Amino acid sequence: MFEGLDGTGKSTQMRKLAAVLREAGHKVIETREPGGTVTGEKIRKVALDSGTSGLAPLAEMALMFASRAQHIAEMIEPGLAAGAIVLCDRFTDSTEAYQGSGRHLGSEAVRELHRVLCGDLQPDLTLLMDSNPRASVNRARRRNQRASKSSSRGHDENRFEQETRSFFGRVREGYLAIAKREPGRVVIVDARGTPGQTHQKIVEVVSSKFALVGPSKRMHHAR
Ligand code: TMP
Repeated sequence: MFEGLDGTGKSTQMRKLAAVLREAGHKVIETREPGGTVTGEKIRKVALDSGTSGLAPLAEMALMFASRAQHIAEMIEPGLAAGAIVLCDRFTDSTEAYQGSGRHLGSEAVRELHRVLCGDLQPDLTLLMDSNPRASVNRARRRNQRASKSSSRGHDENRFEQETRSFFGRVREGYLAIAKREPGRVVIVDARGTPGQTHQKIVEVVSSKFALVGPSKRMHHAR
């Protein structure tokens, strides 16, 4: 899983890692939350559109979990069962950081809902992209503003980017607390360098944890 504040380069890095894994012979699924399924993408529109005003924090958390439960049932579990590596842009750590910490709902509520609604499914590895919060959120803001100007359907993804600096400060603290609690699963990646440098670090982390060469290449070498 890829985690981190908005604008830390998660999507770019996920694409680059997927290319490396495919090249090594793995079957790879790239997906994201909220979203990843037709239903999840509808939920994403509601959750992220700045036109969704007055959404209660608990309702916001419920939307994130609704998208996730569908995503697990329709995409993640079948993908894993078919032997694919599933790379996902955000998962439950996002809910713990944004709703648990950012919206003050607390970690326990998030972890309890994860047990009930997600069967406590845990990623093998979570890459937490860490960067300067102000710079990365500004980057995400500019990107989403450009995207909403070019969208003809009147949707945008600006609702979270309108949050305050202290909100994003709490989100970052929430993420760092998860990394401290679960050092075996969560690896903090310094994302302040160039995309190429960050990619290199990610490949090192992934290859120290898993065999990079996948089944099809292994068969090829054995012949
Ligand atoms: P992104 O897909 O561009 O990263 O944006 C998703 C936004 O949704 C981002 O601001 C973080 C937020 N979010 C939550 O608040 N809670 C969650 O559980 C997830 C998955 C995302």
